[in-house]
This record gives sequence, structure tokens and C-alpha cells, in this order.
Amino acid sequence: MNETFLKACRGDKTDYTPIWFMRQAGRYMPEYQKIRQKYDFLTMCKTPELAAEITMQPIKILGVDAAILFSDILIVLEAMGLKINFIDEKGPQVSPTVRTYKELENIKNLELEKIQFVFKTVEILINEIDVPLIGFSASPFTLATYVIEGGSTKDFVNTKKFMFSEPKTFHKLMTMLTEATSSYLIEQINAGVHAVQIFDTWAGILSPYDYEVFCKPYVQRLVREISFYSSTGTDLNSPKKIPVIYFAPNTAGLWVHLKDLGVNVLSIDWRIDIKEASKFFNQPLQGNLDPLVLLGNDEELLRRAKTILIDGMNAKAHIFNLGHGVNIHTSVDKLRKLVDFVHEFSYKLRKFN
Ligand code: CP3
Repeated sequence: MNETFLKACRGDKTDYTPIWFMRQAGRYMPEYQKIRQKYDFLTMCKTPELAAEITMQPIKILGVDAAILFSDILIVLEAMGLKINFIDEKGPQVSPTVRTYKELENIKNLELEKIQFVFKTVEILINEIDVPLIGFSASPFTLATYVIEGGSTKDFVNTKKFMFSEPKTFHKLMTMLTEATSSYLIEQINAGVHAVQIFDTWAGILSPYDYEVFCKPYVQRLVREISFYSSTGTDLNSPKKIPVIYFAPNTAGLWVHLKDLGVNVLSIDWRIDIKEASKFFNQPLQGNLDPLVLLGNDEELLRRAKTILIDGMNAKAHIFNLGHGVNIHTSVDKLRKLVDFVHEFSYKLRKFN
């Protein structure tokens, strides 16, 4: 297996900068669309052979250094007795919602048997691919926003109303989601994933105080539990240790809190200067190209990629990625060009420095 990505996660030296993309399997890709025309998104997630095939598409087509399991952060809710649905244009829907103490009853004991398809997909993939497989979940807080709001939102009114009016109940909900997420990630590790990424997509809506009170302790607990489970000790270089990556866009104002989460890799977005971040954070960094630069011209794209690669050399280790998911209007050719450029330029950068 090509271990470059895992080496960088551990902070070890690599021959070149590894690269993968959040949402690397998706609607921008004609090969994905071909399958998507026949099946709805949830069927694709729930059919291990299809999910595995879609996970592998970017490995074959783009030549990236890691695969990310094809699934969604909301899938785990089905193992907790909630219903999820993905409606074109409207986005994801979760029901019933949880907004009061009484409604905590809507969340049932975790039954991972209900989502065995996830672990089945992992088992197929680890025998098929020659790059590491990344498993994932949402952070407890980001998952809570979907459970409370019932879908996507711009202002998070229900989440904040709940948090500020019934903080004790909110903490109880966070504990339930943390325990479920922890078991879910551990089961992905048992099935064979080589690394995990925690998506904290909505952490950036919180003030530093509220992040510290309502979000951070649960991320720390989750990270502690997975790390303890996946390691024979605290030795990061232990081959059994599964690296934990934390991705929380729009969180430059939360810097001080991101420093001591206990994660192995921090994934940063384009709103943070990677050179500055390298001075501040001790762990390897992942990121941080604005995904929409891929909609511009090639010269601009490569110029910016080059800067990120040079600046990323200041970090403990660097994994090239976007600051958020691949946009649907992105050209496959451009992404392939970027992958080749990152590999070639970063190889020379190490060789001649
Ligand atoms: O990165 C990958 O390639 C792995 C698969 C993956 C998906 N969603 C597939 C998907 C991952 C890691 C996710 C995570 C996810 N899902 C997040 C966190 C990452 C982020 O973007 O911040 C969030 C917030 C979700 C929730 C979600 N899922 C939304 C809001 C939507 C609708 C918006 C959209 O882009 O359609 C989805 C659907 C979804 N998840 C699709 C894919 C490929 C599109 C499904 C389709 O219609 O084909």
C-alpha cells in the first residue's frame, strides 16, 4: 500500500506531499453521474458494491493518495432510530427532530446492525485499494445541528435557542451523540479503515465561549476514545494507531481551542494562512486551497497550489487538500492536473531543499 498519506498524518517525512480531496467522489464526475442516474443517493450509500465502486473512482481517475469512504455524515442517525432523506434542491432531511427534554426519547439506543452496509463497504474496499482508506463521522455538535434543525439551515435558530434555553438537555443530547459517534468510528476501525476524519462543518457558528462549553469537550472525548481504542499506547508511530483528522471550516476565531483537541492532523480552510498556522499548530496540517480556485484559470490554480506547497513545508507535515468539498462545477481534468502538479512540484521541493 502507498503509505505516503499515513506517514504525513504521523508527522513523518515523505518523498512528496500527499493529496486527496474532500467530496472527491461526487456529482462533478461523469462516472458518478452515470451511477447516480440509476440510483438515488441513499441507495448508493446502502449498497456496498456501489459505494465501494464510487469510493474507488477518484483513486483511478485522479490518482489521489487516499480514499474516503463513500457515505454521508447523517447515515449514523438511522442506527439511532431517526429517518433521513436527501431531496434534490432541498438538501438533507432528518425526522423527527429533537428540541426538548421529552424529545430526547426520539433517539433510540444505537443499533449498528442497521447500518452494516457501511462496514461491509469498508471490508470490500480494504481488499481492493492500494491507498489508505479514510473513515469519517460528523462531530457531535455538527450532528446535533441536523438533529435539532431537521436539515440544513442558514441561521441555526433552533440549535441556539435550544442551547441557550435548555443547556442541561443540550449537554445530554451531546453526550448521547458523542457515545454513538464514538462507537460508530470504532466499528469503522474494526472493519479496517486506516484513518478517520471528524467533520465539524458547523463549529464556526459558535462563539469561542460556546465552542469551549458546548462543542470542544465532546470532540476531545471522542478523540480520546478513538485514540485509546486504536492505539496500544500513546506512541503515535505505533503501526496500529489510527490517525484522527479534524476538519472545522470557518474557525479562525477558535484557533486557541483547536490547538489542544488531541487530534493528529488539523484540516484548515483558505481563510487561514498555512504559514501562520504552521507556526501556531504543532501537528501536521491538511489543506487549504479554496475549492473555487479550481473554477478559475490554470495559471492561477498552479500559482496558488505552489504557494501552499512551499508554505506547507513549515508544518510538521502537510497533506494537500481543499479548504472544503469539491464544487459540482469542477472539471475532472483540472483536478487531475492539480494532483500531478502537487506530486511533481513537492517532490522537487524536497529533493532540492
Ligand atoms: O468526501 C467524500 O467524497 C465522501 C463522501 C461524503 C459525502 N458527504 C457524500 C455526499 C462525505 C464525507 C460527506 C460529508 C457531509 N455530508 C458533510 C460534511 C462535509 C461538508 O461538506 O462540510 C455534510 C455537512 C453533509 C450533509 C450533506 N450531504 C448535505 C448538506 C448534502 C446535500 C448537499 C449536496 O452537495 O448535495 C449531502 C448530500 C451528499 N453527500 C452528496 C454526496 C456525494 C450529493 C448526493 C447526490 O445528490 O448525488
